[in-house]
Amino acid sequence: MNANDGAIRKVGVVGCGLMGSGIAEVCVRNGLDTLVYEVNGEALESGRGRINQSLARAVERGKLAAADRDAAMAALEFTTDLTDFADRDLAVEAVPEDEELKTGIFATLDRVMLRPDALFASNTSSIPIMKLGAATTRPGQVMGLHFFNPVPVLDLVELVPSLVTTDTAWSRMRHFATDVLGRHVIASQDRAGFVVNSLLIPYLLAAIRMFESGFAVAQDIDEGMVRGCAHPMGPLALTDHIGLDTTLAVAESLYAEFKEPLYAPPPLLSRMVEAGHLGRKAGRGFYAYPAHVAR
Ligand code: 3HC
Repeated sequence: MNANDGAIRKVGVVGCGLMGSGIAEVCVRNGLDTLVYEVNGEALESGRGRINQSLARAVERGKLAAADRDAAMAALEFTTDLTDFADRDLAVEAVPEDEELKTGIFATLDRVMLRPDALFASNTSSIPIMKLGAATTRPGQVMGLHFFNPVPVLDLVELVPSLVTTDTAWSRMRHFATDVLGRHVIASQDRAGFVVNSLLIPYLLAAIRMFESGFAVAQDIDEGMVRGCAHPMGPLALTDHIGLDTTLAVAESLYAEFKEPLYAPPPLLSRMVEAGHLGRKAGRGFYAYPAHVAR
């Protein structure tokens, strides 16, 4: 058992996709005992490869010593069995934006995590934290901890309490995010999209509608925002980067919550998701990506 000082030392990350792999990387690079769960060996290997690639990039860019990369990879632990989370102080769930999947995981985590003061966080961008909390017997210890992609590069997290998150849980998580992970924290009420996606998603959808209507070609829409507004990437390239499936899921949650037309997914976005054109990770979205670039 850890000393009963409320500090978070043992972290479990559920899911090792785009976001989960970044969260696991940031945890292990900050010296935490980090255990990563995936559904099967294949998904685990692909997640491990993603973390390895990202750490290699950090070394190439001079952000990390090669010895620290090796130490981080050696320290990371992986499992396909959630009962291995028994001793974790904190679980961070980062599976796809599917309410049923997420509530099922929270119910399981509640059963398997034995520390009475364990904290439960979700990287969801759109599903109410209250619904995730209600799937557990400890809703006061559940909150949103929303990272941004690429996680090792973008240092923001949105911290989202539900109506019943306790002050103690909030303070422990805030301390963890700022002082342990070195993140900049902003607070949001428990509303679909929180602060950032409530602003970002309508912008991305507007760009997709513009492209869909033939108003301008993809390159010109993106160049307009990169060169005209100094954004690091244009909205269609950014949608490819986030994943069209994730963008669609967040738009659907926002639309379901607020019923505002600006959140309604354009038909082209739905068709592209149905076609498997999910963006960079699938090698094809608004742009095509050679295998070595898709990551
Ligand atoms: N670890 C640490 N640092 C790294 C790194 C890693 N694995 N990989 C790259 N970096 C650093 C580089 O060293 C560089 O730092 P510097 O500016 O100090 O030199 C910086 O990150 C940029 O890296 P690159 O030169 O490799 O790449 P680009 O300049 O092409 O930038 C990008 C790529 C970071 C993706 C940039 O285009 C960007 O920030 N785009 C916007 C992404 C964005 O908006 N994300 C938010 C999406 S919304 C979201 O996630 C929420 C969800 O719920 C939908």
